[in-house]
Amino acid sequence: METVVSGIRPTGNLHLGNYFGAVKNFLKMQENYNCYFFIADYHSLTTHPHPADLHGNVRQILAEYLAAGLDPEKATIYIQSDLPEVAELNLLLNMNAYLGELERTTSFKEKARKQPDNVNAGLLTYPVLMASDIIIHQASKVPVGKDQEQNLEMTRKFANRFNRIYEVDYFTIPQPFNFGESLIKIPGLDGTGKMGKSEGNGIFLAEEPASIRKKVMKAVTDSGPSEPNSPVSEPIQNLFTLMEVVSDPAVLEQFKEDYAKCTIRYGDLKKKLAEDIINFTTPVREKINAIAADDAYLRKVAALGREKAHENASKTLKEVREIIGFKPF
Ligand code: TRP
Repeated sequence: METVVSGIRPTGNLHLGNYFGAVKNFLKMQENYNCYFFIADYHSLTTHPHPADLHGNVRQILAEYLAAGLDPEKATIYIQSDLPEVAELNLLLNMNAYLGELERTTSFKEKARKQPDNVNAGLLTYPVLMASDIIIHQASKVPVGKDQEQNLEMTRKFANRFNRIYEVDYFTIPQPFNFGESLIKIPGLDGTGKMGKSEGNGIFLAEEPASIRKKVMKAVTDSGPSEPNSPVSEPIQNLFTLMEVVSDPAVLEQFKEDYAKCTIRYGDLKKKLAEDIINFTTPVREKINAIAADDAYLRKVAALGREKAHENASKTLKEVREIIGFKPF
């Protein structure tokens, strides 16, 4: 079975965009691949979270992924900082990562621009840590969004370089996991662009119904079609796209027809969309709350994941140390 690795940053709550754009694919992958899904809390230190918040952030995102269907019996689900082997591999890979290539990385340049007062070395070597996460498990596939493609390219480079320097065929070179057609971009409610954490245009899986209703009713629309069969503007198409993932296909068809006939009422469209989103999120929200209140379960999941991940990671690290030339006395 092929190995898949993916890291999840513990920043903010899961929204519909994360669910339909990424989590749903994780659910499929855990059925057919040897999956390692981890919460990237080492990576989150680049933005200096307060010690009082760090654990809570990790805990919340863990509860949300479990509620969304990640299954600790099928996939290895663990916390990055529970795997010190990753930190050691990171140190070893750093010796063959060069300042120039790290400085040229788009995500580094972007972050340096966004947080000019905190351009720390962790930001610079972020792709090295990410490479360590991936190759410590000898992953052959990594599901990545557009924004992570370059980081994965760096992983391939570091893995290849290690193999070349030590004249071994040791590390598996990971490929991006491409879902082709099945990747749905979920738009936000502000008329344009995709749903995002920082855009403030998202609906969260854990969100209360009243808040969802309020957000959907405030979604951007247009002044309505003035003649039959008008092209659909972006804000309305966005509401249709959301309906596509949460509503009955017949409901969406009806609204599209009403649009074509100029009889559509955006108030009705939004009301229906809000209710269908609530129908979708309610069982997930209830599960999130139940799991988040269950310390014993979370502890069990983390321990199981740690053990399985450690078994694999320690084997890799032992072999890497031998290849590099460390020897016991
Ligand atoms: N860099 C990824 C992100 O920002 C998170 C991540 C860390 C990751 N390590 C990884 C993703 C390994 C895939 C594989 O979303």
